[in-house]
Amino acid sequence: MMELLGLSILELCYIAASITFIMGLKMLSSPDKARKGNLIAAYGMGIAILATILFKEELTADKWLNYALILAGLIVGTVIGTRMALKVKMTAMPQMVSFFNGMGGACAAVISLVEFDHLLHTGKVEMSMLIVIILGLIIGGVSFSGSIIAYGKLEGKIGDKALPAGQVINIVLLLVMIGLGVFIAMADTQEALYIYILLGVSLLYGVLFVMPIGGADMPVVISLLNSFTGMAAALGGFLYGNQAMLTGGILVGSAGTILTVLMCTAMNRSLTNVLIGSFGGGGAGASGQSGEQGTVKEISVTDAAILLAYANKVSVVPGYGLAVAQAQHTVHNLEKILDDKGVEMNYAIHPVAGRMPGHMNVLLAEADVPYPKLMEMEDANDDMDNTDVVLVIGANDVVNPAAENDPSSPIYGMPIIDVIKAKNIIVMKRSMGKGYAGIENELFFHDKNRMLFGDAKDSLEKLISEVKNL
Ligand code: TAP
Repeated sequence: MMELLGLSILELCYIAASITFIMGLKMLSSPDKARKGNLIAAYGMGIAILATILFKEELTADKWLNYALILAGLIVGTVIGTRMALKVKMTAMPQMVSFFNGMGGACAAVISLVEFDHLLHTGKVEMSMLIVIILGLIIGGVSFSGSIIAYGKLEGKIGDKALPAGQVINIVLLLVMIGLGVFIAMADTQEALYIYILLGVSLLYGVLFVMPIGGADMPVVISLLNSFTGMAAALGGFLYGNQAMLTGGILVGSAGTILTVLMCTAMNRSLTNVLIGSFGGGGAGASGQSGEQGTVKEISVTDAAILLAYANKVSVVPGYGLAVAQAQHTVHNLEKILDDKGVEMNYAIHPVAGRMPGHMNVLLAEADVPYPKLMEMEDANDDMDNTDVVLVIGANDVVNPAAENDPSSPIYGMPIIDVIKAKNIIVMKRSMGKGYAGIENELFFHDKNRMLFGDAKDSLEKLISEVKNL
């Protein structure tokens, strides 16, 4: 095969693909470049696939069936993937990511099965290869079944179900998986049955591990499973000596791990707590028992509109309720109307506002809110002293002062958007209902705060018509 600088064309293609993956990942961290980054990495993947078909082995006519199968797979995958991506609603994104991730896990597990069979038939069973195959099978299997359960839960098709003594069963299954894996690697057995039993146990473990986890913790679990699939793919790359697969797998594995850690840190929870504990629940330790906070003051739409229209600077803190109300376009309209009146409005984005990473960024991008208007939490907090009105729309936990001043609160230590520093606070939500952490919020009783009760979209529409009349 032709060589350049001592590297074969295949290796050069793999390096090019790896570079596009790194560039794509880097670009995904900025909203205005994310789309392009995704495309660049996809082209890189296309190059890697084509190069493998064309240059890995010599093309020969007797392998026509293999080529036909690869082509059919590519066509079917492309058609299904494109249709799903075009049809998916923004709110259903987490389940689609989970589904695709499950497919990645399944591929890794199937690769391990095929390669195990291959190893047995060549008769040359290398221990290192066997270990890679076994690890790929376990991680891929867990990732596949776990992701499919996560998909079902987010789609509302499967509820949160915990088996009695579920944790004990999971630990036993984990030990069985490790024991069986070590046995297959050490026993030099030609018996394929054990590898199928190992696959079965891995699939069962994935199901039982994800089943009891609360629906709202799914983003953390999906990100963890994503990192598992990355690791399994990297093992596949190692198995085939395929550098693009190896780099891609390592990038997915490490990005998934970093995202998991970041989400847990932003919620001030350990991963163990997400996986086996439940969050808050408004128990005795929860901050702000009712009755002691004083009174809740309400504000009328007209008064709220006057405050907004005569302010210099307004900051919106969006939360999960904004997504529920689908009020992203309406809040953008309010921003445009205020802008016409010379009022500067921006959005203060908490890293775990909503229910998935980047939820608020995606939601506001859908309504074409310009990116520079989105402020990260630290910058928004620095600017809070200069803010005349802060509008908290459908957010609760991410503005709860208990996170700063109540060590007994389950969210104690989680950074928050410091709205109390602003001159006026208006909280827009339907009731005094709790947020995800299930705890009271003393902000609602604060002197500076006034509540504008109602569905976020309804209230914003009313606010817009009042502001227009001023
Ligand atoms: P939450 O604390 O969950 O509060 C959302 C509030 O929105 C509720 O109190 C609810 O009050 C209100 N709401 C619901 N529907 C509404 C509607 N139609 N109109 C107006 N308001 C509505 O949300 P947050 O402040 O965004 O905090 C996110 C929470 O989720 C954090 O605890 C975070 O740790 C957790 N979490 C986040 C993630 C990620 S990655 N983002 C993942 C897992 C968990 P009413 O019922 O009174 O209206």
